[in-house]
Amino acid sequence: MKNILVTGGCGFIGSNFIRYLLSLPGFNSTIINVDKLTYAGNPDNLADIDKSFPERYIFVQSDICDMESMTGVFETYEIDAVCHFAAESHVDRSIVEPGAFLNTNVMGTFNLLELSRKHKDRMVLFHHISTDEVFGSLDDKGLFSETTPYDPSSPYSASKAASDHMVRAYHRTYGFPVTISNCSNNYGPYQFPEKLIPLMITNAKAGKPLPVYGQGHNIRDWVYVEDHCKAVWKIMKGGRHGETYNVGGRCEMRNIDVVNILCDTMDRVDPPADGRSRRDLINFVKDRPGHDYRYAIDCTKLQNELDWIPEESFKTGIEKTIRWYLKNEPWVRRVQTGEYRNWIKQQYEDRERAE
Ligand code: NAD
Ligand code: DAU
Repeated sequence: MKNILVTGGCGFIGSNFIRYLLSLPGFNSTIINVDKLTYAGNPDNLADIDKSFPERYIFVQSDICDMESMTGVFETYEIDAVCHFAAESHVDRSIVEPGAFLNTNVMGTFNLLELSRKHKDRMVLFHHISTDEVFGSLDDKGLFSETTPYDPSSPYSASKAASDHMVRAYHRTYGFPVTISNCSNNYGPYQFPEKLIPLMITNAKAGKPLPVYGQGHNIRDWVYVEDHCKAVWKIMKGGRHGETYNVGGRCEMRNIDVVNILCDTMDRVDPPADGRSRRDLINFVKDRPGHDYRYAIDCTKLQNELDWIPEESFKTGIEKTIRWYLKNEPWVRRVQTGEYRNWIKQQYEDRERAE
């Protein structure tokens, strides 16, 4: 893998993945990060990487749905491997505006598959990043395995399921080298504060209400983002083509327990000025429509085949994450005020002037 196309590299997991790869001793591939810079794409996430690796890190602002522009990327940079993160990723948004999810998650993935097929002779791998949400909802027993039938509930998970099927179809039909990973809920630095954990941290810091859907009894399986990045790289290097690997934190928790731990950890590392517990900010609100009750991942296959296990515990991971958000208050402020988007606006204006 000489020239690795990472899509969605300015988002939460993609930026952590690029940072992880470039920190690995002996890693000497070039990374071409293609990102449309939607509301979730933040160039701040990799500003230091941009400066430190001028030759091995290239950023291209492009929509994966734009076939002409993506054709140029594949040809100019002689892409020989793809790690595809780019997606509309937030379930609540997919309930309000599903169209963008179909475009990016389904048609965008299709475009990348088509371009990879066109350059099949030099393509080493197409790795597709997916989610455990494609499997639907569990009751109190059982775990999702790689053979659990797909049963998506939201427009987001349905669009991810469709893209997974296309990736598998390209392998079966064209003998194309693909791997897929289906991961559970990630948390850690650089996550956009619309998702549960960063929203709760930033609201708790600002003394704002902490909206918990329903009674907070829904269960998610939390994995620290760096553990996910390590899993993806192991799969890209050693995964069997055509195979799917589940990735999970072996860390099932009810939402209300996550929020309580988060409040208690914040009270300890950043005592509130008025001395009141952050738990007082918890506010039970209307439930999400079609809210999946429980996700839980069996990642035995990844452990047995590629020797991966989640290393970070929730206790240490949540404290690291909270400390990151507290320390990076300017990042939070730029995201909350939308200031980080000025850079994007400037890029568009410069491009228009150049044209
Ligand atoms: P994110 O929303 O933080 O980032 C998505 C990135 O994709 C952004 O930088 C955005 O600008 C970019 N993007 C969106 N549409 C694009 C388009 N049309 N063309 C080019 N770039 C585009 O998402 P994330 O949480 O980092 O998730 C990354 C991937 O991991 C997604 O495929 C998601 O389904 C999957 N995933 C996420 C989680 C999680 O807990 N966050 C868990 C499992 C799987
Ligand atoms: O399971 C993997 C998926 O995890 C990824 O595929 C998605 O991209 C990612 O967004 C995430 O989906 P969830 O819907 O599980 O994540 P979210 O952070 O939105 O919500 C986590 C849980 O917390 C869920 O049960 C809903 C609840 N919740 C969420 C928010 C934003 C609340 O109770 N209050 C909130 O304000």
